[in-house]
Amino acid sequence: MSIEEQYVDSLYERDHMLELVKEGIESHGMPSISIADGYGRLLTMLVRLAGASNLLEIGALGGYSGICLARGLNEGGSLISLELLPAYAEVAKKHMIEAGLGDKVNYLIGDAKESLAKLKEEGRTFDFFFIDADKEGYPVYLDYAIQLAKPGALIVGDNILLRGRTIDEAKQGPAVKAVRSFNETIAKDERLESTILPGYDGLAIARVKG
Ligand code: DHB
Ligand code: MG
Repeated sequence: MSIEEQYVDSLYERDHMLELVKEGIESHGMPSISIADGYGRLLTMLVRLAGASNLLEIGALGGYSGICLARGLNEGGSLISLELLPAYAEVAKKHMIEAGLGDKVNYLIGDAKESLAKLKEEGRTFDFFFIDADKEGYPVYLDYAIQLAKPGALIVGDNILLRGRTIDEAKQGPAVKAVRSFNETIAKDERLESTILPGYDGLAIARVKG
């Protein structure tokens, strides 16, 4: 983290619930790769500002971002979270319950692409998407998000800098190429208006026009 990011984080009171989630993630042997604290605060703000009530998250990990998203919901709003690994979804659900948000979330376990295809088949639509799963899948997840979006929906994507690999020409692996393509679509696709924040590990924020 940069000293500027550390300074900004230091201004905030400790968030005991989110600290507990990070400890839980570690104690379950899961990777410590939750969204940056500052972007977690932004997720809550964006959900609240957008008045979003149907949220779709792709990649639950241990529930850190799920809590941040659900905190921004109004009464009656809900979150569907797609997670590949049943063990991760279990930890995420436990954390959501501990945060008092267990009734707001439903987990769909398995390959996110299959869950997305099913949601599309069912005619489901959403007004907020958070993409934070395997990086190779980002372009496909973005494509599905646009298809499942209500007009004006927000699409947020984490880790668009891949800790510098995105801008390192020597890196040409599938994940890096996929995230570059994702970023270009975010910036250029006519169906979207967007911005990309380069702080922490980079965050894409797009609004589906309409
Ligand atoms: C990493 C961080 C993430 O937030 C993520 O979703 C995947 C990987 C990382 O730092 O490696
Ligand atoms: Mg991430």
